[in-house]
Amino acid sequence: VAALTVPGALTGQTVLITAGPTREPIDAVRFIANRSSGRMGFAVAAAAADAGAQVILIAGPTAQPTPPGVTRIDVETATDMHAATLSRAADSDLVIAAAAVADYRVARPADRKVRKADTPPSLELIPNPDIIRDVAEIVDGPFTVGFAAETHEVTDHARDKLTDKGLDMIAANQVGEGRGFEVSENTLEVLWRTGQQTIGPMPKERLGRALITLIGERFHATR
Ligand code: CTP
Ligand code: CA
Repeated sequence: VAALTVPGALTGQTVLITAGPTREPIDAVRFIANRSSGRMGFAVAAAAADAGAQVILIAGPTAQPTPPGVTRIDVETATDMHAATLSRAADSDLVIAAAAVADYRVARPADRKVRKADTPPSLELIPNPDIIRDVAEIVDGPFTVGFAAETHEVTDHARDKLTDKGLDMIAANQVGEGRGFEVSENTLEVLWRTGQQTIGPMPKERLGRALITLIGERFHATR
């Protein structure tokens, strides 16, 4: 497996990447979030820039430094990430969804801090929009790549998501029990309609480069 970026593999292409978690407010000082360091998405963004792409990174709250040559747009909630992504998706050649988006948000977040002495709140949750699904519905839209973090039956669940969301590719990894989140070595099972390939285990930075190489190959093979 090529672990190095092919120089120029994405020259002239605009690549939009979502990365990191989202935060869904409960009140003025609390939120619901996902376990995500943003490291995988930022590694993919760095690799895409190295491959010659113009990269726009829509980032949830993370401690990651912005990779050189990457335009970063910071967002907090899934709703904001959806708006930031959808407003730019039709003008992009590829959209890669690496973000761990909260599936639900609190229906009526309190604008002040909820006090301990108050009646214990029960949170009503409502579904967030599915960002990559909406991107994949754009007619003559960009090449779409999703991620699937799974705890079990990784390949089956990932293939279901590929088909169900109408994506061009999906990169699946196993999470839980010290795997996937907040660890540096990872393995990706990359699936597309007519094939699949395993990359790793390797550090997320190398994984990002190998994934971008594979995405570049599939992108050029289908367009
Ligand atoms: N995703 C997204 N918008 C959402 C939820 C997920 O764009 N509101 C994207 C993720 O960035 C990822 C892919 O969809 O690329 C799969 O995310 P995942 O959480 O694994 O799947 P879900 O469809 O949310 O299903 P579930 O959480 O039930 O497994
Ligand atoms: Ca989800």
